[in-house]
Amino acid sequence: MAETTEPILEVRGLVKHYPLASGILFKKQVGAVKAVDGVDFELARGETLGIVGESGCGKSTVAKMLVNLEKPTAGEIRYKGEDITRLSGRALKAVRRNIQMVFQDPYTSLNPRMTVGDIIQEAYDIHPEVAPKGDRRGRVQHLLDVVGLNPEYINRYPHQFSGGQRQRIGIARGLALRPEIIVADEPVSALDVSVQAQVINLMSRLQDEFDLSYVFIAHDLSIVRHISDRVGVMYLGRIVETGRDAEIYDHPTHPYTQALLSAVPVPDPEAREHRERIILAGDVPSPTNIPSGCRFRTRCWKARERCALEVPALAVPAEFRDVSGPAAHDSACHFAETLPMWRSAPGKVVPPETEGEGNGSGPG
Ligand SMILES: Nc1ncnc2c1ncn2[C@@H]1O[C@H](COP(=O)(O)OP(=O)(O)O)[C@@H](O)[C@H]1O
Ligand code: SF4
Ligand SMILES: [Mg+2]
Repeated sequence: MAETTEPILEVRGLVKHYPLASGILFKKQVGAVKAVDGVDFELARGETLGIVGESGCGKSTVAKMLVNLEKPTAGEIRYKGEDITRLSGRALKAVRRNIQMVFQDPYTSLNPRMTVGDIIQEAYDIHPEVAPKGDRRGRVQHLLDVVGLNPEYINRYPHQFSGGQRQRIGIARGLALRPEIIVADEPVSALDVSVQAQVINLMSRLQDEFDLSYVFIAHDLSIVRHISDRVGVMYLGRIVETGRDAEIYDHPTHPYTQALLSAVPVPDPEAREHRERIILAGDVPSPTNIPSGCRFRTRCWKARERCALEVPALAVPAEFRDVSGPAAHDSACHFAETLPMWRSAPGKVVPPETEGEGNGSGPG
């Protein structure tokens, strides 16, 4: 679990704008796709930060910048205090080894012409210092075992495995260099629901075993619930609400999070009764043309004049600043509030009469 020491990763003002050009001979920049437009977060050692948002909100772009597959337009990515966006050469290589990625689609992210052994072992060609040549096959077999695959499958090809098994191979590849941080970009989204939980459980176990910190990306809040210590909700290139697991799931104050959560099935029938599905109006605006003020305002049922004029900061809203309850967490909304359906809902599976008994948290 998270310690209150210096974060292992600290992201400040992270921006990625892809220029839009027009003209055939003389290209002229006419705008930009603002894929990521000012993202801040911290990751503590051993912690899992869930990043959630609809398709197109910039999650993969954030992930790619964290592992240096994309260069930020602006902002800092501090790994143990050092801004890695400014590193190059050997220093960059050393850092990259410690931050590895697990990709979304296990069907396309594994080279079909390579054996599983070669896929996992490839990392040692770039970082030979991690494993001496004679030692590599043994290491790969051990990794297969660690992710729950038969080490004897080392010479098989990706198509000989199921989707879940392929994602285990992707995870083994991510672990090969013994990184400290794994950025998992929708690692279970392409898998059957029945397999998703197995892969998430595997990742949880590996986190303890290898002392890993995770940035775990998903488009659905229900997927990250069981693995995240904290969650950041993204909308159009920015994090609009962030907090500890219980703060986000049981006391969301941003209308966008509330809408996303209202669509998540609730197992407890009593809690379910209090919930109403919030249907958002309209579509997500284009990232080339982000609304003024609050970027969520074109779909927000609470939007007022102030929302078009003033950008809401991602901070504890004024009305919650003096209360030390779970509603007091960062939310980028001028009119942040908890909704009755969450205020009265018991949250999780604790019925109201017994809430606070034995779980040490007390009624909110
Ligand atoms: N290389 C690129 N060039 C231009 N636009 C891009 C590029 N990569 C992503 N985008 C755009 O940036 C936005 C965010 O994309 P992405 O980070 O993949 O979102 P997500 O992973 O949340 O679905 C989308 O509108 C996408 O079309
Ligand atoms: S600032 Fe305004 S538009 Fe934005 S989420 Fe809050 S109420 Fe809605
Ligand atoms: Mg993506």
